Amino acid sequence: MLAVLFNKNKLGEDTPHAVLNWRLWYGVFVFGLMGAARGLDEGLIGTSAEQPSFQETFGLDDASGKSEAEKAALLGNITGMVQMGSILGALIAFFLTDKIGRLWATRELCFLWVLGITIFLAAASNGSIGMVYAGRFIAGVGIGQTTVVAPTYLAETAPRTVRGFCVCMFSGAVYLGIMLAYFGSYGSNLHISEKTQMQWVVPNLMHIYFAAIIFFASFLAIESPRWLIKVGKHEKAAANLSKLRNLDVHHWYVQSEIIDINDQLNREREATKGTTWFGPIRELLSDKGNLYRMQLSVMSQLLSQWSGASSITIYAAKYFAMMGTSGEKEKLFATAIFGVVKFVSAMLCAFFLIDWLGRKRSLMIGITCQLIAMLYMAIFLLLDTGVGDEGYTPTGAVKHAAMGAIVMIYISGFGWALGWNSIQYLINSEIYPLRLRALGGSFAMTFHFANQYGNSKAVPSMFISMTNGGTMAFFVGITAIGLVWVYFFLPELANKSLESIDAVFALPWYQIGRRGKELTQNVGGMAENYNSEKDKMDMVENVAEVQPERRV
Ligand SMILES: *[C@@H]1O[C@H](CO)[C@@H](O)[C@H](O)[C@H]1NC(C)=O
Ligand SMILES: *[C@@H]1O[C@H](CO)[C@@H](O)[C@H](O)[C@H]1NC(C)=O
Repeated sequence: MLAVLFNKNKLGEDTPHAVLNWRLWYGVFVFGLMGAARGLDEGLIGTSAEQPSFQETFGLDDASGKSEAEKAALLGNITGMVQMGSILGALIAFFLTDKIGRLWATRELCFLWVLGITIFLAAASNGSIGMVYAGRFIAGVGIGQTTVVAPTYLAETAPRTVRGFCVCMFSGAVYLGIMLAYFGSYGSNLHISEKTQMQWVVPNLMHIYFAAIIFFASFLAIESPRWLIKVGKHEKAAANLSKLRNLDVHHWYVQSEIIDINDQLNREREATKGTTWFGPIRELLSDKGNLYRMQLSVMSQLLSQWSGASSITIYAAKYFAMMGTSGEKEKLFATAIFGVVKFVSAMLCAFFLIDWLGRKRSLMIGITCQLIAMLYMAIFLLLDTGVGDEGYTPTGAVKHAAMGAIVMIYISGFGWALGWNSIQYLINSEIYPLRLRALGGSFAMTFHFANQYGNSKAVPSMFISMTNGGTMAFFVGITAIGLVWVYFFLPELANKSLESIDAVFALPWYQIGRRGKELTQNVGGMAENYNSEKDKMDMVENVAEVQPERRV
């Protein structure tokens, strides 16, 4: 991204400068910010549950007379409600995004998000656990939809040279949410008396601020021209695309985008003549290219969720204890720094790697960092199991090795934010064709949340039955498989138009991952081979003349 901004000559060849304008960045801001929703929840519920006022109201304190296991189960239920709601949210998101558009789907999800959080916070007045569950579930339905709506919109509106950057703003915002949540709770713990409910209610108001900002800001954002074409509003689409690109509607860049979109839509229409409601689902299952796409969604979710990184996020404090960092304050501090490291790495990836080095290489660098870090931790835990024990003070070489292990936690977080976490939203938003984009995204994200839920339930028992070292070794294995899979199966899609990606999936399956990029080109890409603006325009005009149905 920065490489593109600084090296104007490079941008000049394939993309007019005008397309990087404030309207584009405004859309990236509004939709990228939605990523903070999950981060806020993850950070706020964990820290709220630590506040004495929250514990007392909902029976999580010692006075409630519950056993440790009962308290843990109750907290698990409270936390898990948002994940369950998110599964439903991701499942229905495709229907809403395609039916009412990307912008109205955003407003609708903000509404559910605020409604749910309001019910949750209202439980402060009567201590009703039912309201906590219901509120968090409703909020989850809204929050789950963000993972489909925002990446879809970002991928559809971004010029292809900076598409990776735009979508990665969404994955990076997760860590913005986590950091703000942490500091908000920390501040209210310091400054608000633990005798009032305000201690946990005030930081949770951040949810409402974010939803309100996104809701109102969405009225100045531009609807996705690709969606407008999909629902047959061709004139509006052209006008909106020209506004978004800050170019005349007759400019070759705008025209070639429109031709490409129409092309793809016509191809899809021809492939599926039926227009029943399950038409898109049949389309998803009946085409070889689409089956390959679904394989990418399923495998990327499985391999990333079980690579151990998300369980390191959730259990970071526990890991620090395991590695010999003791004391509440130290652990919380280390966890906060962990959030900062991941935020910075996600931003580094978005700015410098994803469009410049490409998806495949960024991901392989990220996974390699994770692999090295996990391997170290696995060996360390298998060789020395006494470090996390209470009252154990490591000395000499063991102490140095334990320090090394803590450094490795940070390296694994760095690798995760650089690789899997950034890529998982990006590939699902760019591989599917227009008619199936929202549906494919819904499918991938439903699977994502279901996996995450299973993961959070399974990992604690894995640590007990397989031992800490054994569990780590299991994660190392999955991470290594991930590296091999990416090398063979993930196609490089950096700098390709969304429409030319279709051609990649029309190749024989064994060529898609290894040579997909070199073997395919699109109209916009063809125009770039001409040097002067006039030649580019002529080329696009010619295509439109020979095949008028490709015009607006
Ligand atoms: C948590 O939810 C499960 C059902 O999902 C229920 O069986 C269990 O009793 C709940 N635990 C607590 C402590 O509320
Ligand atoms: C852009 O699309 C919206 C529909 O979302 C439409 O109301 C508006 O008129 C379009 N803008 C232009 C300039 O056509």
